[in-house]
Amino acid sequence: MQDLPSDRDALQALLDFHVEAGVDLALDETPHNRFAEPKAEPVKQAPAPKASPAPPAPAPRTLPRAAASAPEEVASLAREQARHARSLEELEAILAGFDGCALKFSAKNLAFADGNPEGRVMLVGEAPGADEDRIGKPFMGRSGQLLDRMLATIGLDRSQVYVANIVPWRPPGNRTPTPQEIAICKPFIARQIELASPEFLLCLGGPAAQNLLGVKDGILRTRGRWFTYRTEDGREIRALPTLHPAYLLRQPLQKRLGWRDFQALRRALDGRE
Ligand code: URA
Repeated sequence: MQDLPSDRDALQALLDFHVEAGVDLALDETPHNRFAEPKAEPVKQAPAPKASPAPPAPAPRTLPRAAASAPEEVASLAREQARHARSLEELEAILAGFDGCALKFSAKNLAFADGNPEGRVMLVGEAPGADEDRIGKPFMGRSGQLLDRMLATIGLDRSQVYVANIVPWRPPGNRTPTPQEIAICKPFIARQIELASPEFLLCLGGPAAQNLLGVKDGILRTRGRWFTYRTEDGREIRALPTLHPAYLLRQPLQKRLGWRDFQALRRALDGRE
């Protein structure tokens, strides 16, 4: 490892540089050369939990071998485990005990869901940020506050909607989740949608729309158009992609488009669209 500067200002500048680059989290005390590590062993399947949810196991500080296994293998294990869940409580417990996604080991908490799973509308975002990670629920920070204000414009609040993310653990430094991380987590969000069984699905941002609806186009092309989301058990749910609140915070002029989409959702809830 490179020698650290000895004076305080230089050390502070080095730290600031890392934080600005999104490196705001230490995974371990010492650096590891992952390329020099032995090949990962295949993932062992954990038994499905009993009816009552087990408390999540404390996260080890280093990445386990399961997280280093081939992504397809881990995704197939995820599908198997997600299928076992007969309720949202069981699904949360299974996810809390699932070691196949390395994000779990850098996150403070699993941010599984917020709101009312009986609601007619389910909203799915991308991944938790720092506030969501600290609290352990989706959409708790500035994006969540904007989302609440947008919901309020159509007469809804969190007691009437159910909120989740395609990836339930915070990617370090708020980076975009990798396609592998999304593929591993996808069976869980798919089962979560199936179990919540909402009438309407609002996909917040491009990654949610692309991964749940299989659309290739960017969100500015797909937003505001109704799609059909099909659950594994054959249910069809009306799905509407819209702009992510974090994007609207950066591009406030686009809020009018988000507002139009929320109006479309209101009309659909009222049976007018
Ligand atoms: N952005 C998301 O996509 N999800 C959250 O929970 C918070 C911010």
